[in-house]
Amino acid sequence: PPGAARAEAAQHPERPFAITARRLVTCDPSRASAGDPLGVIEDAAIVVRGGAIDAVGPRREVLRPGAGVPIAIEAAGVVTPGLVDCHTHAPWIGSRDAEYAIRMAGGDYEAIAAAGGGIVASMRAARAATAGDLADTLRARLRRMAALGVTAVEAKSGYGLDEATERKQLEAVAEAGSDARLPRVVPTYLALHALPPEAGGDRAAYAATVARSWLPAIAAAGLARYVDAYIDRSAFSVDEARPVLERARALGLGVRVHVGQFADVGGAELAAALGAASADHLEHVAPEGIAALARAGVAAALLPVASFTLRQEPPPVAALRAAGVPLIVGSDANPGTAPTESLPLALALAVRLYGLTVAEAILGATREAAAALGLRGVCGAVRPGLRADLAVWDLPHENAIVQPWGAPRARAVLRDGEVIAA
Ligand code: NIG
Ligand code: FE
Repeated sequence: PPGAARAEAAQHPERPFAITARRLVTCDPSRASAGDPLGVIEDAAIVVRGGAIDAVGPRREVLRPGAGVPIAIEAAGVVTPGLVDCHTHAPWIGSRDAEYAIRMAGGDYEAIAAAGGGIVASMRAARAATAGDLADTLRARLRRMAALGVTAVEAKSGYGLDEATERKQLEAVAEAGSDARLPRVVPTYLALHALPPEAGGDRAAYAATVARSWLPAIAAAGLARYVDAYIDRSAFSVDEARPVLERARALGLGVRVHVGQFADVGGAELAAALGAASADHLEHVAPEGIAALARAGVAAALLPVASFTLRQEPPPVAALRAAGVPLIVGSDANPGTAPTESLPLALALAVRLYGLTVAEAILGATREAAAALGLRGVCGAVRPGLRADLAVWDLPHENAIVQPWGAPRARAVLRDGEVIAA
């Protein structure tokens, strides 16, 4: 049982144990083929040692009789890499349910934001919250995400919109991120999410302050690995965002950008020029933008929960696929456009609404997402040398993972070989 495995592993961290699976989805490119893009092994075993994956293969090859490796979990269903959520606004606090109800009755997201709701409403909640409340709320959210099969989460600031509160959000992320019993977190600085009221409408001046002063302090404190900017018709322009993102690069940080959620204002080209790790949303992107992303190797982060609540048409997925742009899928967890914590829900919508294949959806929430978060050598696949971040599903096949269950279907979730949800 998982509890016993945990106790055993805690007492003897270097002592190996095994997990067996009727069906193992490795997401290991060296096992994949055209007919089997996920690199599946039937009747598989994984040996875990010191929190890392030590051996993977058919059970009869990996678990030789007499080798004495105890089996901690015998999975009657499918095992996958732990899911990786490549785009979340997880350190939010409060609820915008009244706004959601207005939108469901026909209200317009951008109009609500222009009237002082939207992101700025969540800004007020974040500014009013104590650091402790923010961290507690985030930890509880990450725990629920883990129960859904998620072992790594990108987490953006962006509800502070002043120096202290943006930092308070990232400090909450760092605090939660230091807890080995929660998913690993990848912090992203998103001061360019909206213009705070005190900026007096001057987007360029706000961005200049972020670039000159706030961002270097965040980088020096080691509080962010990426910098994001919301580039859109009712958010920041390419010219306003560029100095912040260029400064991020100069400071050694990666870049990922919200682009084309409502209109194509050239964000994809900027993402490509800066060598961004991902361009996110992309409901509106022209063929030139797609070609630029493909040339620069920028992943397209698809966020179908947001386009679902906004009643939008899907991004040009077929064109992105044809151009060879890596497709990744995120929950976009946020209190406005994607009030969810569920990456499996996003996968269900990516398949149903965006036409992703099951394999594309799974890879987009494991190996490809890990690569886009700078975690290629850490997690996202089941292969020797990576950390033992695994999801053991109470489901027979990966096809079932992308069904819209609306409930957790992970039986056990491991990070670094330790059960963090069961
Ligand atoms: O990814 N579009 C900008 N950011 C979020 C929404 C944030 C919010 O409404 O609070 C998004 O959809
Ligand atoms: Fe977002």
